[in-house]
Amino acid sequence: MSDGYMWFEGIPFPVVGYTLEHLKAMRENFVFKDEDVLTVSFPKSGTNWLIEILCLIHSKGDTTWIQSTPIWERSPWLETTHGYKVITDKEGPRLITSHVPIQFSPKSLFKSKTKVIYLIRNPRDVLVSGYFFWTISNLVKKPESLKQYFEWFIQGNVAFGSWFDHVRGWMSMKGKENFLIVSYEELKQDTRSALQKICRFLGKTLQPEEMNSVLRNSSFQIMKENKMSNYTLLPKWLLEGPLMRKGIAGDWKNHFTVTQAEVFDKIFQEKMADLPRELFPWE
Ligand code: A3P
Repeated sequence: MSDGYMWFEGIPFPVVGYTLEHLKAMRENFVFKDEDVLTVSFPKSGTNWLIEILCLIHSKGDTTWIQSTPIWERSPWLETTHGYKVITDKEGPRLITSHVPIQFSPKSLFKSKTKVIYLIRNPRDVLVSGYFFWTISNLVKKPESLKQYFEWFIQGNVAFGSWFDHVRGWMSMKGKENFLIVSYEELKQDTRSALQKICRFLGKTLQPEEMNSVLRNSSFQIMKENKMSNYTLLPKWLLEGPLMRKGIAGDWKNHFTVTQAEVFDKIFQEKMADLPRELFPWE
């Protein structure tokens, strides 16, 4: 806690909303149901975008839910004490979110048929998005510069640890019937096709007008204006600005120095070269 994180088994967690007791109990005791849908991502991968999409698919394009209930109540974060309570109090099929590395996930997940969607994003954009986000949040230690945050990110000394380890860990589920990988980049490039892929995985069929509503209401601009999704409902002492920042792929090019870009390329190669290339559509 003294360095701005809560450490658990070598991984830094945010200090607000998390406890060690809860993380331990969650791993041992939480019971997934086969009909649950779990979104997993490293923070700043576009998690809230995917949640908005899943909520709208669930309501067949009807916007009542997304306009009346905060996003963190619709698909709560299992590892937060508040989110856990909302999830366990809920009846029926549940949308659940998690940022934890796979070793912290509840053991019941691996015995269930819960549908798991792993959202992946170019780590360079995750880094830049994280730098700006943690600068305006009071959940973890604030970086003083992008240069400093770059170092922390490479070392895995950021909330939820190393991006590289996170991806590598969760990729051990690749190939399972109940595991789908979606990238931020494919969502950006062809949102409709990515939505159809998600619907197929969930076994949902949407009418064209329902699909159009999902597309429209999960767009960056509409989400940015939806106070139930843009995090402006949070108190300022927790978050000082909006979650929706730029919403583009490749913003890292506006922020990395040439040297940083080279260093990152080298590290990416060293750490991820043995994983299938198609996992990383931005490379
Ligand atoms: P940027 O900071 O690059 O703009 P998370 O939800 O995992 O915290 O990720 C936040 C990132 O997703 C931010 O990226 C945010 O702008 C982007 N994002 C949120 N909603 C989006 C949307 N509807 N379309 C595109 N990007 C979105």
